[in-house]
Amino acid sequence: MHRRNFIRSSCTACLSFTVASTFLSGCVATKYISGDIGKNGLTISKDEFKVVQKGGTAYSSFIIVRNDALRYPICIYRINDLEYSALWMQCTHQGAELQASGDVLQCPAHGSEFNNHGKVTTGPAGTDLKTFPVTVNNNELFIDLRKQS
Ligand code: FES
Repeated sequence: MHRRNFIRSSCTACLSFTVASTFLSGCVATKYISGDIGKNGLTISKDEFKVVQKGGTAYSSFIIVRNDALRYPICIYRINDLEYSALWMQCTHQGAELQASGDVLQCPAHGSEFNNHGKVTTGPAGTDLKTFPVTVNNNELFIDLRKQS
């Protein structure tokens, strides 16, 4: 094989691998659930975060609760098995609905970003997101919608 052909075929293989890797990593679908909303709050199973894969069980870093009883969705982040955060997905700048991308909530309107605890990391928003306390009861999470901070 000539040097030029070798370089061309090697670069094509590398580019194909990079594109395939990027595409596959972006294929992890966001999980939406409606949850079980009661008088005081929302109850969901911790199992909602489980992702069964070849070779074992993994966990999604977040799920989104969309429910007709809620004006905006709530993004629930799994920090670890005992720690979760529940974030109101309304941008604190001008009220647009946020989009979750990994551990970041992004605003499509003007680009504000918030971390998985609801803290502003990029403006123009200047106020953190509303959050709700999350209680872990065995295999269930209770998100208290009466108390927001
Ligand atoms: S409404 Fe979100 S940055 Fe403006």
